[in-house]
Amino acid sequence: MTTIKSFGDTVVAWQKKHGRHDLPWQNTQDPYAVWLSEIMLQQTQVVTVREYFARFMARFPTVADLAAAHQDEVLGLWSGLGYYSRARNMHRAAQDVVALHGGVFPRDSETLQTLPGIGRSTAAAVASLCFGEPIAILDGNVKRVLTRYLGFKDDLASTKVEKALWAIAQTMLPQCDVKNAMPRYTQGVMDLGATVCTPKKPQCAQCPVADACVAKDEGQPEAYPVKTRKLKRTSEQLWLLHAVTSNGDVWLMQRPQTGVWAGLYCLPVFESFEALVAALPAKFRTQLQDGTVFKHVLTHKDLHLHPVHLSLPSSVKLGAAMGEGQWVIKSDWPALGLPAPIRKLLTN
Ligand code: ADE
Repeated sequence: MTTIKSFGDTVVAWQKKHGRHDLPWQNTQDPYAVWLSEIMLQQTQVVTVREYFARFMARFPTVADLAAAHQDEVLGLWSGLGYYSRARNMHRAAQDVVALHGGVFPRDSETLQTLPGIGRSTAAAVASLCFGEPIAILDGNVKRVLTRYLGFKDDLASTKVEKALWAIAQTMLPQCDVKNAMPRYTQGVMDLGATVCTPKKPQCAQCPVADACVAKDEGQPEAYPVKTRKLKRTSEQLWLLHAVTSNGDVWLMQRPQTGVWAGLYCLPVFESFEALVAALPAKFRTQLQDGTVFKHVLTHKDLHLHPVHLSLPSSVKLGAAMGEGQWVIKSDWPALGLPAPIRKLLTN
């Protein structure tokens, strides 16, 4: 029977035989590569991350290459992954590694956590995967595995409760040959969550710790983890000026560094149709055509996007109220960080 004490060693043995071994960010101890993959994997599926990870590593093989890049290029390469604050923090973290750590990635979880965008779990993942630090991770997958195994019923919406689970997680690490076992444990507990102890229909028959799993014993593993707080969702209407010339050039401007799509290139955005009209020179106002409204779902918000089309014969000046925009030719779009719904609108 597994116990809290033997949980870690059991997961290590399971990972050796049944875990994933061929992910591109495995079989490396380069903390830069592992960090990059962990940031990408925070909100994106493995299949998608594979491609983006390969492209990032090819373009920025070292943390110094990433630090030296222009933000536009970083956001452009990130384009399509969403949650762009990850890319902005990642870029800043690379610059901090160069400026504050002599270009050498920190090797312990405590120092890693001082970098932008690296929280407690990501720091622990990098430190344990690359350097064997005996430190627990606790991302969404791992919370599910541990709360089920333990029958941990307290509400994870409370910070105090989450802290308590961290403390327990720290007691469940492998006991044998810890430094060598840690990378496999960290990968294994994530693999278990991703492939066996899934949110719906967990495969308990394949689970190495099912014999002592409280949730399985109770018959309702899907009831875990317990987290009551629901995201308060809001919705927002936005009007997008889609001005196109006969050559197919589109008027784009960079978003401010805060708020929706911060720092990305985008069609001009307005809070009302009237505001859009007011920002245009009078002679164009009669030529506007309503497009099809579509919905884009963000973490906390549904955006209802109203495209307004304006066809122009050539790259005329759109006027001061359109701000720091510019005409951008089609072949330049892919290299810019365009929000996914805008890219879709432009390429449809
Ligand atoms: N999700 C988060 N980190 C991961 C990793 N290292 N491998 C696979 N999936 C992950």
